Amino acid sequence: MSEVLSEMLQPEVIQSRRGGFTRRKFIKGVIAAGATASAAGYLFRGSGVLTPMLSAQDAVERLITVNVNGQQRRVDVPKHETLAMTLRYQLGLTGTKLGCDRAECGACTVLLDGVTHYGCSILTHSVAGREVTTIEGLEQDGQLHPVQQAVMDEGGFQCAFCAPGFAMSMVGMLSKNPNPTREEAAVLLSGNLCRCGDYDKILNTAMRAVELSGTRA
Ligand code: FES
Ligand code: FES
Repeated sequence: MSEVLSEMLQPEVIQSRRGGFTRRKFIKGVIAAGATASAAGYLFRGSGVLTPMLSAQDAVERLITVNVNGQQRRVDVPKHETLAMTLRYQLGLTGTKLGCDRAECGACTVLLDGVTHYGCSILTHSVAGREVTTIEGLEQDGQLHPVQQAVMDEGGFQCAFCAPGFAMSMVGMLSKNPNPTREEAAVLLSGNLCRCGDYDKILNTAMRAVELSGTRA
């Protein structure tokens, strides 16, 4: 390294070129700015500037009751929150998956009053008073639903990320058409995607579910 270059790299030289702006000074500056910002927040609150944004009325309207898997659940949700988000992150029902989050893959499929819906595309506020069923609600008195049993019997999913959504769609399929052909089942389940491409095995599962639900009836 040349003498001139090594002199330029001396800490005192670098510091003087930056106008004496050291790392320590920088951190002090950030802390001071943060303190000023939070103090400003208090001033805003104290002066009532934020009051219209967080009114008591708004707070009350966020609280709604949703019937999930036969239980009345009280939840505090902003108006723009989707059902899939509420199920997963407020109620801990993580069987409902979030894949595309835009009504394309069916991973978030749940039943609303017995009919399949994409949970990512429906607002939680709109389901107040309606009956929501998730994969966790299919088992009854310790007995697996025929669709769940069919999934176990066939082992038709590779990574199984899509499995809960497909299972809910199979439940919806059975209530629409209890005895579909394989081709009809393929059409009825066409709102769900499997990234692993296990469609043949998934259809085997669907047909096994048809068989089991017939046996049960
Ligand atoms: S996550 Fe809802 S359709 Fe894909
Ligand atoms: S089994 Fe992997 S996405 Fe369907």
